[in-house]
Amino acid sequence: MYILGIETSCDESALAVLKFTDSGTEIVSEQIASQVKMHADYGGVVPELASREHLRSLPILLERVLAEAEIDLKEIDAIGVTRGPGLKGCLLMGLTFAKGLSLATGIPLVGVNHIEGHILSVLLENPEVQFPYLGLVVSGGHTEILLVHEVGKYELIARTIDDAAGEAFDKAANLLGFDYPGGAALAALADECSSSKFELPKVMRESKHTGQFSFSGLKTAISLLVREQNGSLDAVRSELAYTIQESIVEALVFKLKQAANEHGVRNVAVVGGVACNSSLRGVLDDLTDISVYYPSPKYCTDNGAMIALAAGYRFQAGELLPVDSDVKPRWPVESLS
Ligand code: KG4
Ligand code: ZN
Repeated sequence: MYILGIETSCDESALAVLKFTDSGTEIVSEQIASQVKMHADYGGVVPELASREHLRSLPILLERVLAEAEIDLKEIDAIGVTRGPGLKGCLLMGLTFAKGLSLATGIPLVGVNHIEGHILSVLLENPEVQFPYLGLVVSGGHTEILLVHEVGKYELIARTIDDAAGEAFDKAANLLGFDYPGGAALAALADECSSSKFELPKVMRESKHTGQFSFSGLKTAISLLVREQNGSLDAVRSELAYTIQESIVEALVFKLKQAANEHGVRNVAVVGGVACNSSLRGVLDDLTDISVYYPSPKYCTDNGAMIALAAGYRFQAGELLPVDSDVKPRWPVESLS
């Protein structure tokens, strides 16, 4: 069975063809057009520009992904498309394109929750991960811990009440003078240091709410700390980056350990763009009582393969999307169960 996955929820247009066999799944081909450079000039994603860029990219990427897979559209068994959560205009571009393909060819359509795609993305390369596992979703727009009982059954354990972890990285990076999204650049600078004289509050340890992440207090503390260095910022940028990275990682690890202990779960999947962070991976890999799995970096960030994977499972369960369905810009993943 071949599934075409289409992702357009934010600033990447991504398509993939995934083959389901009796022994598992295989990524046959994948194409991605990132808009990161285009939005960097504006300091963040501009929804209107993003939507137009998806519209322009989708037909080109479709042609390429089918050519690379050496298959005809007619051989695709189902088209999976991100229906939400995400930017409304961007989601509409993907869904409308997918509907057009489905109507023209008769190929069934499947609507995919973007966060379900991220949670399952770990299974693309690590199909051996045992249920139940904890999914730590850390991206530019989302920070949540979900207990994955099985495919399709997700229990919310913790979610951010303000900024996402990636957003915290990006805003701090901006204060240090990096272009949007500066998370990866801040991380690279931080990795040049092995210690720092600076300190930031341990935000999660001080929080009484186990079901919540919050990064706004840390954001204020970072902003004050950076401002205090005026005049000598250049000399201490890498040390500041080190402390910022350490405090965001500490907050994520603290909550994850708390959730693993509370729910007695020993398998963890870390997914989303921030799962690329090597400091986070280093700290988690040192934990002896939990097994942590990550997708490779290109499947941590938004991609078509994870959408095709989630769509394949939904298709096998007979869950098709009627062509008059709309996008769901807000669509909590735990509501799927
Ligand atoms: O999952 P993703 O590609 O897009 C969203 O759905 O948001 O995640 C992008 C986020 C950005 O905030 C980016 O700065 C962050 O992931 N990111 C990183 C690293 N690589 C990407 N943050 C920290 N360290 C990294 N190495
Ligand atoms: Zn994402």
